[in-house]
Amino acid sequence: MVTTGRTTNWFMRPAAREWVHCPTSTGARAFHQSLPGYEPTPLTSLPDLAEELGVRAVLVKDESSRLGLPAFKVLGASWAVAQIIAARTGSGTDLGSLRGATAGSGLRLVTATDGNHGRAVAYMARLLGVSATVFVPAVMTPAAFNAIAAEGADVVRTDLDYDAAVAAAAGFAGDHPDRELVQDTAWDGYEQVPAWIVEGYDTMLAEVDEQLGATPDLVAIPVGVGSLAQAVIAHYRRPGDHPALLSVEPDSAACVLESLLAGTSVSVRTRATVMAGLNCGTVSGTAWPHLRDGCDAAVAVTDDQALKAVSDLGRLGVSSGPSGAATLAGVRVALAQPERRRALRIGGDSTFVLLSTEGASR
Ligand SMILES: Cc1ncc(COP(=O)(O)O)c(C=O)c1O
Repeated sequence: MVTTGRTTNWFMRPAAREWVHCPTSTGARAFHQSLPGYEPTPLTSLPDLAEELGVRAVLVKDESSRLGLPAFKVLGASWAVAQIIAARTGSGTDLGSLRGATAGSGLRLVTATDGNHGRAVAYMARLLGVSATVFVPAVMTPAAFNAIAAEGADVVRTDLDYDAAVAAAAGFAGDHPDRELVQDTAWDGYEQVPAWIVEGYDTMLAEVDEQLGATPDLVAIPVGVGSLAQAVIAHYRRPGDHPALLSVEPDSAACVLESLLAGTSVSVRTRATVMAGLNCGTVSGTAWPHLRDGCDAAVAVTDDQALKAVSDLGRLGVSSGPSGAATLAGVRVALAQPERRRALRIGGDSTFVLLSTEGASR
């Protein structure tokens, strides 16, 4: 179902705070730590923003440089690719075993992307010496297109939106024995790979735990298909203290907000936005139950609000692109009204974590 006509940019469900989810442990973190160039990304305290928002601390998880790429997405793509190859060949998941298992195999990784995920899949293909085909929607900047091509992938420009580009990639991969679809969104019958991608994102949150040494009071998440949000909800709805979790989307592609308002997963028609990584019309099938049950609030922000956040973060020394800076725009909109602060249990002592999931484009 495609909906239109949303009349609010806000949704809240305080009962979501009580939802408990027991996570399973995976080898994703150890795998990431074994990759060339792995380092935890910074968690940067910005007192100016804390003062502006009337809270004790605002910490920005800065994903502008993650394993040599300018976004967090490689955490999911790398772990999923390792698991796919291990499942195909019975190999271990260390780089040497993965390279040995794929040498001369003709393996081709296939995906669709609005930018960062496709670049991460192309990067993994290059690292392992295999091929990649990346389908891109009609709306993509030349810089994002060229960055994927520069990793050596075959890039297929379509005249489609993101959802249809995903369908095109899935069709191309089909049942071909040498092609593996590495997609970061789930639908009926395609759940395992997105589940691995979600597992990979947990590395970012495990780092936050270590860097902060405490549970924050609010975590703001930039949302496209919701796989990152699924990882955040799974992580922070463990038994124990629970922060408020805020989903932030572009107002032109707010499929999670629209679905939460409708009480069921709905697709939305999307328009171009500067928040390219968040330009998705349908929530991932496996992310939806997590968002429905475990997400406290959802907000939609405009391009102007995201661009102001980009420039404010840049002035404060954090490189953040519009999809990452959307979280600052989101908390600004969310907390503008005192009753929302109260419902989210935010006060002067609160600590916020803003996930800034990409660097400013150069
Ligand atoms: C920079 C950035 N942030 C956030 C997201 C949202 O992740 P998800 O699509 O899993 O919701 C994306 C997705 O591509 C992204 O590129």
